[in-house]
Amino acid sequence: MRIEPVSALVGHVAVPGDKSISHRAVLVGALCEGETRVLGFGRSRDTEATIAAVRLLGAEIDELDAESLVVRGCGVGGLSAPDRPVDCANAGTLMRLLAGILAGQRGRVELVGDESLSSRPMERVAEPLRRMGARVETTDGHAPLVIEGGPLVAISYELPVASAQIKSAVLLAGLSADGETTVVEPIPTRDHTERMLERAGARVRRRPSSVSVERAERLELGEVLVPGDVSSAAPLLAAAAIVPGSAVTVHGVGLNPRRTGFLDLLERMGARLSIYNRRSLSGERAGDVEVRSSELVGTTVEAEDVPALVDELPLVALVAAHAHGDTVVRGAGELRVKESDRLEAVVEELRRVGAHIRATEDGFHVRGVPARVRGGVVDSRGDHRIAMLGAIAGLASKEGVELRGAEVVDVSFPGFFDLLGQLRTTSRPT
Ligand code: S3P
Repeated sequence: MRIEPVSALVGHVAVPGDKSISHRAVLVGALCEGETRVLGFGRSRDTEATIAAVRLLGAEIDELDAESLVVRGCGVGGLSAPDRPVDCANAGTLMRLLAGILAGQRGRVELVGDESLSSRPMERVAEPLRRMGARVETTDGHAPLVIEGGPLVAISYELPVASAQIKSAVLLAGLSADGETTVVEPIPTRDHTERMLERAGARVRRRPSSVSVERAERLELGEVLVPGDVSSAAPLLAAAAIVPGSAVTVHGVGLNPRRTGFLDLLERMGARLSIYNRRSLSGERAGDVEVRSSELVGTTVEAEDVPALVDELPLVALVAAHAHGDTVVRGAGELRVKESDRLEAVVEELRRVGAHIRATEDGFHVRGVPARVRGGVVDSRGDHRIAMLGAIAGLASKEGVELRGAEVVDVSFPGFFDLLGQLRTTSRPT
């Protein structure tokens, strides 16, 4: 696909529902009694895999329209083991959270994924679940995973990596464990699971660097209103920040403080960012976010900043390439085990469009030049976030980008290219 430069991006849009919250609404809904209505569901390849998985495990889901579902749950221990593997496709969140859920169910379930997911580390989720009493087999540390649930005991687990997926898996298993299960996190990560479990009636205790959950007999969510995905808003806001003359507003974006690191970073770099209509949706903050282009300056991202913008780090590199001065990102080694090796992908693909960027051991270093990047060829490497990075680089470039593997954006954001089309003013830089 060819991405032509734009002179500016202007307009108001909304993005699909938050992927993390959408996965959780369906998964937790499957553990609830009765019906859970999910409105603003972020339909994507990843979340469709979650719908299919939960159906295979015995929950019923009515799809009222693209963004509205009714999940009829089976109760906390009520899922049933299917006679074939559950396909988690490309979705790490699905595989890891489901592993936690299955640890507390009867029966033996195999979880499989696509090539990318099958190369991502799974021992990190297997290990705490084994400690709780489940049998979990990995394939040399990877998927396929085989999980045999059983009577679980509560543990106190200190996360060896800052991962909301692992924290969530342990908490979901904790719903079926005797005692109080505690997860200690060295750096706070997204807390959608604990917020949702609390709303569903579980006894949850949240502290700044740990969270506990007790065994739950009965969960009931009722309704979940899903805010727009800040990680899907991020590429549009990044484009608005770096393409001169732009002004973009994304309406109804989730503003959970553990997810808004990219917005904070844009402000730190000098972007003109405003938030309007702050509100709360099913226990999550939301608002309308406007970004106008401006001169930007380089910044530093440290390990403790990473979880709040982990999926936006590729965009950090692109924005930094357009800023005055240097930007350094440290403590981001987790990027190597995302849908692709995102450190390598970001550095190599952005170099191909003319950015001055080099990899470090656990991050990257960008020398900013406040002008459009040249353009060139970008390969998504089968990673949706790299595809969106390439598209934004193309819009902000002098010569445009030939984007290979663009269709993978559907993993999190079907309709991404249509939205870009709505925002572009003219197809050539002025
Ligand atoms: C997610 C957690 C993060 C993030 C992923 C979604 C979640 O992964 O990168 O896109 O929904 O919990 P890790 O837990 O591996 O950091």
